[in-house]
Amino acid sequence: MTLRINNLRELFSAKEIETRVCELAARINDDYRGKNMVALCVLNGAFMFFADLVRRFDMGPELDFLRLSSYGGNSLSSGRVLFSKDTELSLEGKHVLIVEDIVDTGVTMNFLLREIGSRNVKSLRIAALIDKVERRTEKLTVDYAGFTVNWGFIVGYGLDYAGRFRELPGIHVAELDVGSGS
Ligand code: IMP
Ligand code: MG
Repeated sequence: MTLRINNLRELFSAKEIETRVCELAARINDDYRGKNMVALCVLNGAFMFFADLVRRFDMGPELDFLRLSSYGGNSLSSGRVLFSKDTELSLEGKHVLIVEDIVDTGVTMNFLLREIGSRNVKSLRIAALIDKVERRTEKLTVDYAGFTVNWGFIVGYGLDYAGRFRELPGIHVAELDVGSGS
């Protein structure tokens, strides 16, 4: 069985995303004024959101990148998560902001909160482009959420389906077809 995308419907335009990213950056700038902040980009999905967000930061953050992979399943939501690229900066005594594309069940973010939280950070918060709050199985709150979307598979603006659609400037919901073969 294969899943095929047969249609994309725009949920948020590039302009709407830009406006929302500006609002989030303004709140983050207020909250981190005068603090030594490290923003962590969760690759690959968050790359575009991260690039647009940090360009508006005025607290002089350090930036670092990490990547996760799942193991024993083909979805990060399968429950077992590993670093395939860890952070490189020291996070000790710093205010860390994790920047993620989507928080869905929260399994991935819970793993990150546990791992990064164990590195003697001064504070730890989450910014996510999309908060699928109704699908949450883990107890966690997204501190800075771009948009709340509770259904559908989302692509564009960094988010992919099988490596595709990341380049789209808007956020789209994908209509999936169940087919046989490839
Ligand atoms: P979670 O562990 O269930 O919170 O989901 C983890 C990851 O699954 C997210 O960081 C995304 O990379 C991916 N994901 C979840 N929903 C979507 C979606 O609608 N589109 C693209 N990726 C998604
Ligand atoms: Mg992700």
